[in-house]
Amino acid sequence: MADLSTTFTGIRFENPFLLSSAPPTESDSNIMRAFDAGWGGVVTKTIGLHPVVNVKGPKTKFLRADNSGYRLSMNKRAESTLIASWNWELISDKPLDWWIGKLSRIKKAYPNKILVASIMAGSGNDKELSNWQTLTKACQDEGADALELNFSCPHMDRVDMGSNVGKDKVLCSVVTQAVKEVSKIPVWVKLTPATADIVEEAGASFRGGADAISSSNTFPSLPVIDPNTLEFEMNVEGYVSPGGLGGPAILPLSLAKMSQMTKAFPDKEFSGIGGIATFDHALCYFLLGCGTVQVCTAAMLDQAIGPNVVKGLIAGMTEFMERRGFKSLEDFRGMRRDRIVAHSQIKRPEQFDYRGGYEAAEEHEGYAAAGLKS
Ligand SMILES: Cc1cc2nc3c(=O)[nH]c(=O)nc-3n(C[C@H](O)[C@H](O)[C@H](O)COP(=O)(O)O)c2cc1C
Repeated sequence: MADLSTTFTGIRFENPFLLSSAPPTESDSNIMRAFDAGWGGVVTKTIGLHPVVNVKGPKTKFLRADNSGYRLSMNKRAESTLIASWNWELISDKPLDWWIGKLSRIKKAYPNKILVASIMAGSGNDKELSNWQTLTKACQDEGADALELNFSCPHMDRVDMGSNVGKDKVLCSVVTQAVKEVSKIPVWVKLTPATADIVEEAGASFRGGADAISSSNTFPSLPVIDPNTLEFEMNVEGYVSPGGLGGPAILPLSLAKMSQMTKAFPDKEFSGIGGIATFDHALCYFLLGCGTVQVCTAAMLDQAIGPNVVKGLIAGMTEFMERRGFKSLEDFRGMRRDRIVAHSQIKRPEQFDYRGGYEAAEEHEGYAAAGLKS
């Protein structure tokens, strides 16, 4: 039998498959069902200290395309294929006190499973930074194996929270550092994909002491408009607010973000998220250098916690490793990271010389050509 176990940020996982922070991990009963189903770890639904009230009506819907034709709609129907999830759900609406006691009970009941606590506070002043430390201490005292800092929730009005932290390099460093001051367990940072160059925010988080980066959270997006009613397919009394896209549609987008980071920081650790439903999808992240992967949308659609999804992931990885003769994830992790190169480095037809849009340089003896790398 192939050995699926792996060590990530110093923690041993029986397999590299985790449920991400989202509805599948919103309660102790879900988390325990998930462990029974075979997930190697879970990241809890994000726990905070500020008040949370979700919208009136559904918080998540699923966008599907007709199998014949181009119609895209969130209306559930036969003969259609899942394209994405769309949500505007906030972090856990259960207070920290609700989680205390439950986290330790979960960990005691499942000592070999990995429990990562996702946390979020503000970042605008010292009191908010101390809230991060309160959450950190509370979760680690409960026995959490690691923390994941939510710098990526796309639905926050507060400019010092969620993806607004992940869009600000200084805040990424400052908050990570504040957490690291009191944490005794590894600290993962979950970044937003909604920035121009995620390498910048990843670098800032690592400078603050992050042990790993998780990516991606959902991508900012809107529901489609129904051509008959002229209403957004998801709205409350006609109004909508930008939400987050997850599921199959974001797999290629998230891979691009991940590859930027794994290439820039080949010696750092990464947890891949976005559009994973099968081992083939997870494999893309592993080949780019990720040491674990996380799943949300596919699990939500499979009995809320993904028993069949995780079975498929485990079977797929086992079959892949046995077929290829790999002993562990380390044998193939990062194998395709260096295949992503600048456009001008992709081969052209023999008779042409392409210089990435630069003019052929005038030669000056003894000097490097302008605009070309040496
Ligand atoms: C309904 C819903 C709620 C979510 N809540 C959180 C959250 O509280 N904290 C967080 O870090 N990510 C949250 N996410 C993002 C997911 O953890 C994940 O990053 C994203 O959905 C991409 O993965 P997927 O393509 O497998 O869905 C949420 C996603 C959904 C769909």
